Amino acid sequence: MRVIAKRSTVLMTAAVLGLVLAIGFAQKPVAAQSSDQKVEQAFKNIKALNGQPADMLNPTMVFFEASLGVGCPFCHDDDANKRDIDSKPQKLIARQMIEMVNSVNKTTFHGARQVTCFTCHQGRSTPIGVPNVTNSPLPPALGEDYIASLPPPPAVPAAVTVNQVIDKYVAALGNVQQVASLDAVGTVTQRRPGRDFPSQQIEIFSKAPGMGLTVTHAGQNDNLLSYGATAGWARAGQTAPRDLRKAEADGAMLEDPYNLPAHLKQMLLEPKMDRPERIRGGRDVYVITAKTRNLPKVQAYFEKETGMLARLVYYNDTVFGQYPTQIEYRDYRDVGGRKVPYQWVISQTRNREFTYAMQTVKAAAIDDVKFAKPSASSR
Ligand code: HEC
Ligand code: HEC
Repeated sequence: MRVIAKRSTVLMTAAVLGLVLAIGFAQKPVAAQSSDQKVEQAFKNIKALNGQPADMLNPTMVFFEASLGVGCPFCHDDDANKRDIDSKPQKLIARQMIEMVNSVNKTTFHGARQVTCFTCHQGRSTPIGVPNVTNSPLPPALGEDYIASLPPPPAVPAAVTVNQVIDKYVAALGNVQQVASLDAVGTVTQRRPGRDFPSQQIEIFSKAPGMGLTVTHAGQNDNLLSYGATAGWARAGQTAPRDLRKAEADGAMLEDPYNLPAHLKQMLLEPKMDRPERIRGGRDVYVITAKTRNLPKVQAYFEKETGMLARLVYYNDTVFGQYPTQIEYRDYRDVGGRKVPYQWVISQTRNREFTYAMQTVKAAAIDDVKFAKPSASSR
């Protein structure tokens, strides 16, 4: 009896040990020269990796390199004989990161090594925290050699002001008076290229300078979305109308292709000239970065040559980060004395990319009642 009891204790100990091994951090490597030593016994300046087997240090450093896409001198002194000194801020940050990863694995993942440096970094020294909504690839994760080989980023233009860029855009659209004062009614086809998604017809009513309504014919139901000077509402089919969230209303204003030029300047708060870029089709653009009352960030891309708005990206705030919506404008044509885009592409999260193609558009006065929130029972 006693023997059996003892044996089961041994088995249990082995099981617990197995668990510890599986969980990982206490893992002891097999037969390596200094596996009996701790890191802090073998090296001079250890503050975060204490208690780990000494022969884990070098492979761990290789893992850091691979995870961040960098070499040893990214964190360490350029003198390879002085790995112990803390001469670069990156080494100190890396220590904090080690603590953070240990802690998150301990508290959230029961000690299993679920979160690693690579989980966030993916081969980049600065992780990308914003979802990619366009079909274009993320910036490459090719490490510091690649980054070092890049030409220096272009400077923020010093001689060009935000007002100049927006004024040129409005002038390029046509008669300034008309740009800001014409109501417009149009129909648009919405397609989702490359997907089995039925194209939808949308009616757009834009009343200058700041009210809009879209009616999306979705099967038998109409989905309505309206924004106004103070608020907005939406209604799906016959359901009760709801108020737009504030950020949603700002997004709707920015997505209105007719009224945008009339209210863009007022909407952009704290606008700044950003680094110019070259976008699709090799076009050079000025970039203005700003925010709106309810959106944390908006970026507007204006073609240097023509002054036209080529792209607008706005960001929604969430509890955990921001996500973008991108609008690309194409094919500006003249409608009643001002230019409007005949095609635009809206890219959203989860790779929802819709192309909007103008079918009809005309300048026509619209009565305010069109934008009134319907009562819950009305049809
Ligand atoms: C992402 C940052 C980072 C990279 C990249 C990195 N290290 Fe480290 N290294 C550290 C940190 C942080 C420590 C200290 C760990 C601690 O305090 O417990 C350290 C410690 C060391 C030590 C111990 C020095 C001592 O005596 O205290 C050596 C040796 C070392 N690294 C070598 C390398 C080599 C070789 C490479 C490239 C293959 C490399 N490291 C890449 C962050 C980095
Ligand atoms: C939970 C996500 C996450 C994990 C896991 C993570 N990091 Fe980071 N790390 C970040 C973020 C985000 C930044 C950028 C912070 C900033 O820009 O202020 C960063 C920055 C760094 C930097 C500074 C880079 C620079 O350009 O100066 C170093 C070094 C670093 N991390 C090392 C590590 C190491 C080593 C590990 C694994 C032990 C690790 N990180 C794990 C999110 C993470």
